[in-house]
Amino acid sequence: MRHLPHGCTSKLRSTHDVGARISWNLRPGVAFKQKDWEKRREDMKSVCANCHAADWINSFYVQLDGVVDLGNEKFFKPVKDVMAKLQQAGKITNTPFDAPLNGPTTNCGTIRDAALAWARP
Ligand code: HEC
Repeated sequence: MRHLPHGCTSKLRSTHDVGARISWNLRPGVAFKQKDWEKRREDMKSVCANCHAADWINSFYVQLDGVVDLGNEKFFKPVKDVMAKLQQAGKITNTPFDAPLNGPTTNCGTIRDAALAWARP
């Protein structure tokens, strides 16, 4: 492993912006790639390259993008659609934590109950 006296990169300046080289924004329900994510990712890869081979780094990012895409497509987008329909049907409000469905007591039972209640005419 190379010795890295000033942070983990020989090409980039050190930064205290811990998000500067992050390509995904995972905070909202449906994750999205940040503005300029390609540049951010290339910068991050150049950091990884101080210790890892390019194939290892690229494979890591294939897996990362894969798991984020899977989460978005299989869970977060469908749940967002269901929540929007429940709201349109007047079953929930847009106030966070005011109903068992979107509150701290959420569990499979309450989601199922709410979905069934919504599906009833
Ligand atoms: C300072 C050197 C260094 C840098 C920089 C570095 N790594 Fe590593 N990485 C290591 C070492 C050493 C290990 C093995 C750790 C171990 O075996 O416990 C490792 C392990 C890993 C693993 C395997 C983890 C596991 O549990 O199997 C992955 C994936 C990985 N690194 C990806 C990255 C990525 C992506 C970056 C850049 C964002 C990066 N690494 C930056 C040194 C580094």
